[in-house]
Amino acid sequence: MKRVLRQRLVCALAAVALSGCVSNVPTPNADLRHTGYADMSPTLQAMQLDDTQNPAMLWVREGEALWSKTPASGQSCASCHSMNTSTNTSAASIKTAATRHPAFDDGLNQPVTLARRVDLCRQRHQNQPPQNADGPEVLALSAWLTHQSRGLPIAPSTDARMTAWTQRGEQLYRARMGQLNLACTHCHDQYAGQRLGGAPIPQAHPTGYPTYRLEWQALGSLPRRLRACMTGVRAEPVAADSVEWVALESYLMKRAAGMKMEGAAVRP
Ligand code: HEC
Ligand code: HEC
Repeated sequence: MKRVLRQRLVCALAAVALSGCVSNVPTPNADLRHTGYADMSPTLQAMQLDDTQNPAMLWVREGEALWSKTPASGQSCASCHSMNTSTNTSAASIKTAATRHPAFDDGLNQPVTLARRVDLCRQRHQNQPPQNADGPEVLALSAWLTHQSRGLPIAPSTDARMTAWTQRGEQLYRARMGQLNLACTHCHDQYAGQRLGGAPIPQAHPTGYPTYRLEWQALGSLPRRLRACMTGVRAEPVAADSVEWVALESYLMKRAAGMKMEGAAVRP
């Protein structure tokens, strides 16, 4: 009975949210450390691994240039965060920054994502107007920073002030939403490893963001990916400036603790 219901739900879901139907894969993925990369075709995997083929590298290179660029007012990122000497603690912290965010910002008294951290430095130290995670400079700099962390394990912040935020993120992850009345956990824990409309349902690990998505023909942030999931279940995406994004991202990073960062990744 349960199985019939489940099959019906998944088919309804596939028919409404996406085209096609779920193929008959009986057991969800038992391996809870499975990246979206592992589900990709060998061709796409090769594209991601080859820096000369990976389209995300265009943003990484742009981010690298912005990093050393001296703005009209204020200092360059590089001048405050020197990457040149192996003894420089700042260099080490920049290398791992993508693995440790969201992290708590004392000034704001709330956690900030890596993109927000970049934007705060732009505003505080370069007098630049604010940009969201998909703003051109923030996206490129985030891609470059993520690339510095390639191969390093996700190491969520251990700051005690993060706990309430991570818990809030987990509540959101488990809350039903939208006309399809599904939570993130239904697809990404229960049905992960099955196929929806021909595409494998991944476990939703944030190891490769920002990512170059072929469907977008562009690099996009993690919130952009999550908005696509929310509209997929016919839910109103959370407002762009809502603190719920950082809560959700904090939980996803905690859930993926120890998994290796892919650097600027590619997704179908
Ligand atoms: C109806 C099922 C469904 C629901 C509900 C859903 N997603 Fe997804 N999600 C998917 C599918 C399918 C993909 C892969 C799409 C693709 O590759 O085209 C995906 C991709 C992702 C990815 C990218 C993983 C990677 O390896 O790049 C993340 C992260 C993610 N979802 C998080 C979430 C979160 C957080 C929620 C709840 C707010 C959510 N999803 C709700 C189906 C769902
Ligand atoms: C005037 C010096 C200064 C400049 C310029 C500057 N930052 Fe920062 N940055 C800081 C300070 C100070 C912090 C610590 C957090 C805070 O107080 O804002 C920080 C923190 C960071 C962190 C988090 C590091 C960690 O270990 O968690 C990142 C990432 C970062 N900055 C990126 C950038 C980028 C990208 C730029 C250029 C757009 C930039 N910064 C420009 C001073 C600077």
